[in-house]
Parts: sequence; C-alpha cells; structure tokens
Amino acid sequence: MCGKPTSVDDGASETGWIPVCDLARLKAETIVRVAGRDMLVIWNDGNVVACDRACPHEQADLGRGQVTAGRLLCPRHAASFDLRDGAITAGWPSPPLRLYPVRITGEKIWIETSQRRSGR
Ligand code: FES
Repeated sequence: MCGKPTSVDDGASETGWIPVCDLARLKAETIVRVAGRDMLVIWNDGNVVACDRACPHEQADLGRGQVTAGRLLCPRHAASFDLRDGAITAGWPSPPLRLYPVRITGEKIWIETSQRRSGR
C-alpha cells in the first residue's frame, strides 16, 4: 500500500512543521512514507495520522503494514496499533507507537516533527 516517498522541503519551518503530501494522494494510497524521515502519514477512516515508521516492538517497517478498523497492523508479527493513541495490542511487551501532530492547509498535509501528539 506504500507509494514512493514524498519529497520534503528541506527548508522546514523553525517550528518543526513540514509539508508531506496532498490529501488526495494519501486517500488513494492509505500509507505514505515521508522522504528523509523515518515517519509515515496514514489515512484512517477520514482522519490523517502521522507516526514513526519503525515498529516499537522490533523495528519492522510499518510502511509495509496495513490499516484496518482504526489499527495499523505490523507486517512482522501479529501486533497492531490503535491509531488514536498508538497503543499496541494488549499483552505485547512494547511501548506505544509514537504519533505526531498533523494539520491540513487546503489540500496539503503537514506534520510537526519535533513534538509527540498527546493520546486520547
Ligand atoms: S516488529 Fe512489529 S509487532 Fe513485532
């Protein structure tokens, strides 16, 4: 489901917000890798979520995962992450998936790369 990485404006703003891709592209591809950063943006049931690309369990590439029922499934093991707060499937010995703030201006998706988004 991954498309090719998007280009990132190297002149990122001082506040850490960087443009990622257009909303139409994310809706079409569901998961978009952020070029130059180990991050993903995900289309999840009408919402945009930004997260780390590496699974916090054993570092699998979540860009190869799948989104279903509000969860991101890791391609290596059977665990999945709640896309509202990053929580891993109950019983797995792993910290939550790190999420980042997102904003949309017009059709462009931006992510804040220096701050963690608060959970639910
Ligand atoms: S590496 Fe992702 S659940 Fe194990």
